[in-house]
Amino acid sequence: MADVAFQKCINPSCGAEFDCGQAIFKCPSCGDLLDAQYDWDKVPVPAKLGDFGARWATRPNRLDFSGVWRFRELLNFCSDEHKVSIGEGQTILQQNCAIAEHLGMQSDRLHLQYEGLNPSGSFKDNGMTAAFSHAMLVGARSCACASTGNTSASVALYAHSCGLKCTVFIGSGRIAFGKLSQAMDYGAQTIQIQGDFDDCMKQVQAVCTQLGLYLLNSLNPFRLEGQKTIMYRIIEGLGWEVPDWIVVPGGNLGNSSAFGKAFLELKALGLIDRVPRLAIINATGADTLTDLVNNKKLAWNGGNVDQQIIDDYYADLTARNFSPHTCASAIEISRPVNLKKCLRALDVCDGVVRAVTDEEICDAKALIGAHGLGCEPASAATIAGLKHLLAEGTIGKDQRVACVLTGHVLKDPNVTVNYHKDRQGEFSNPPVEAPNDLSAIIKLIR
Ligand code: F0G
Repeated sequence: MADVAFQKCINPSCGAEFDCGQAIFKCPSCGDLLDAQYDWDKVPVPAKLGDFGARWATRPNRLDFSGVWRFRELLNFCSDEHKVSIGEGQTILQQNCAIAEHLGMQSDRLHLQYEGLNPSGSFKDNGMTAAFSHAMLVGARSCACASTGNTSASVALYAHSCGLKCTVFIGSGRIAFGKLSQAMDYGAQTIQIQGDFDDCMKQVQAVCTQLGLYLLNSLNPFRLEGQKTIMYRIIEGLGWEVPDWIVVPGGNLGNSSAFGKAFLELKALGLIDRVPRLAIINATGADTLTDLVNNKKLAWNGGNVDQQIIDDYYADLTARNFSPHTCASAIEISRPVNLKKCLRALDVCDGVVRAVTDEEICDAKALIGAHGLGCEPASAATIAGLKHLLAEGTIGKDQRVACVLTGHVLKDPNVTVNYHKDRQGEFSNPPVEAPNDLSAIIKLIR
């Protein structure tokens, strides 16, 4: 694939290019983010997106079975022998009439893309299958990541199946138990740093540079290539039609960045005729993107992002010793590494950014749970955000919306149990105490 794919700095005033045989993760010339790019003239891309659907018939082929590699021409950076798969991407797009009606939408307009069905229970597996394939390509032996939990679970799972040594860095007390249990069970060395995700992110980059470990955070451009496929599967689930809106939670901003790139490429390749709009939802306790975009007016600006605004913002966070806090621990991040790529996605998709409170997240989570699919708090930020966007009229009640439910409900049982048990919100459904007596129990049945 050396002649087809390459890495390219996203900063237009740099634009340096590197081959895919290198594991570098940031532009060695200017320090900006890197993209995987393709010489599309040399890639055998099908004439229409629907042609990928034919691969359902050849599912015994492990690559056709994978919901990521089924679209392999659109992430054509390594040969088949390097491609790693553990059956990721078997996810569903569920039309959810009950939630749509609850939100006052036309009932057939709301769809939930449930990424909790992945092998490690979150969307991360879409990215890891691609990044680990690149790790195989460059001959990596050991790898590492920083994580709010799901990345570490997914990395640990893929590292084990690829035979790589693996270290994960998590903020002490900042990770949901379901996720911590996975990292330990899948055999990763787990280092709990006394700090938050941003501290872990800083440390892991230094560790990877010093010890030559392969970095699996979403700074890794190949990870984002895998996450593009979430959008292909939404389009597939809609009979190869593009929705009006994609709604996604925003943390380190890898997903939103990947989605923007996916649509940019599909449009350029003529595989879609229009690009959907993108809504990125922060938690109010970790709302860097919302603040920067809506208040400080930070924008992609053709790639000439005003770095001074970002530097000043982060200097202020440091001066205030700010650490983000939200019950949606997955998105408890205040220095998102993919910020610039995300600004590009907002530009490509005419996107909007909103923040929702923990109370709104928990109510939305219980609403989703009661009417369809169990998801973790960060995922429910989508429905909470959608509610805002419908109320303000940004999203029309008759527009077709796909919300990405990024992780499984069992990832974070504590938030769920506390919400219900302590009657924290509108949809709380606490357990009922009963004596060990049949007639007393019968009287309690509703
Ligand atoms: N939803 C879930 C369930 C997540 O685990 C994450 C990120 C996000 C949303 C945010 O996605 O970073 O692409 O904007 N979790 C990372 C982790 C940071 O370490 O597991 P993003």
